[in-house]
Amino acid sequence: MTVPAPPWALLSELTHACPLRCGYCSNPLELTRRSQELGTSQWADVFRQAAELGVLHTHLSGGEPLLRRDLEEITRSAVDAGLYTQLVTSGDGLSAERIDSLVDAGLHSVQLSVQHADPGRSDEIAGRRSFDAKLAAARLVKERCLPLGVNVVLHRHNLDAVADLIALAVDWRADRVELANTQFYGWGLLNRAALMPSREQLRAAGEVVERERKRLDGTLDITWVVPDYFSGTPKPCMGGWGAVSLTVTPDGTALPCPAAASLPGLDPPNVADRSLRWIWEESPAFNAYRGTDWMPSPCRSCERRTEDFGGCRCQAHALTGDATRTDPACSLSPDHAALVALTEADVAPRLVPRRPTVKRASPHRTASARRGS
Ligand code: SF4
Ligand code: FES
Repeated sequence: MTVPAPPWALLSELTHACPLRCGYCSNPLELTRRSQELGTSQWADVFRQAAELGVLHTHLSGGEPLLRRDLEEITRSAVDAGLYTQLVTSGDGLSAERIDSLVDAGLHSVQLSVQHADPGRSDEIAGRRSFDAKLAAARLVKERCLPLGVNVVLHRHNLDAVADLIALAVDWRADRVELANTQFYGWGLLNRAALMPSREQLRAAGEVVERERKRLDGTLDITWVVPDYFSGTPKPCMGGWGAVSLTVTPDGTALPCPAAASLPGLDPPNVADRSLRWIWEESPAFNAYRGTDWMPSPCRSCERRTEDFGGCRCQAHALTGDATRTDPACSLSPDHAALVALTEADVAPRLVPRRPTVKRASPHRTASARRGS
């Protein structure tokens, strides 16, 4: 067996709990219970193992990671392991005391989500009054001189506000704004028809981004993630399966991508049972779609197969029921026409806010999750 190159990034999903109810949420439909979450010392062990494996950077994410009372200890353990830490938060719950204790723990940077530039529309999309808390959080972060990224998931209900969203990022003194068109996983997949933008919205927003990139060059870094439903070119999802990063979910399940829990038969390993090195190098789940040998036609003989890796396995499964098929986002896929049809409906149903649905507790995981807490 060839040993894969080490990962450089770890997405640490500390909890699935979240005060917001965004209709585009890509977390799994069944959320992990709080009682099943990994404990503080288990996360410290994950970070130590990750650093030994070669990981440089971890996103402390969720759900809403501020709901973890031990977030400071978790952050400190990641920093002590030598990892660069970024808090990924809605800002809801980020008080002056909390940011000070996180800075004290060594936190390196913050990524703040916002749903719209208009406070009322932002609260509507988030399913809760939260815009004012985000504004306050942005101020606190910049007052502590931490790098600030603003993240916006774009869709039919906010794409027309891209210019205002960029202006908001400038106003909040963000260093970076990530304008990421919705990926349809989890609750976002259920709301796909309500979220799907029109081609005209995308074209106009793309023009705004080009113009603003030139105008703000050197001031604000603008990332624009084009939706592959419209481009005919699949995204190189995760930079390739098991190629550069891994995800550990709140109960310790290790995944090659955040959405992979939805893939039937994957049988993902858990950090309570196996070392991170075994998980990365040897587990069947991380090797399932590594490299190009697993690829079907037309990917198998396509010259782009080492650039986009056949697209996204979770999207192929969501759209065709078979994770081994070519991603239908590819114009060469035999399933592409069905995907294009999804982008052409002119009536959008109402956006349904996320409802929390928790997984039934597994006795094994509950016991193993408690061991380290
Ligand atoms: Fe990528 Fe496969 Fe499409 Fe080629 S056929 S562009 S490898 S998804
Ligand atoms: Fe799982 Fe793309 S989101 S492979």
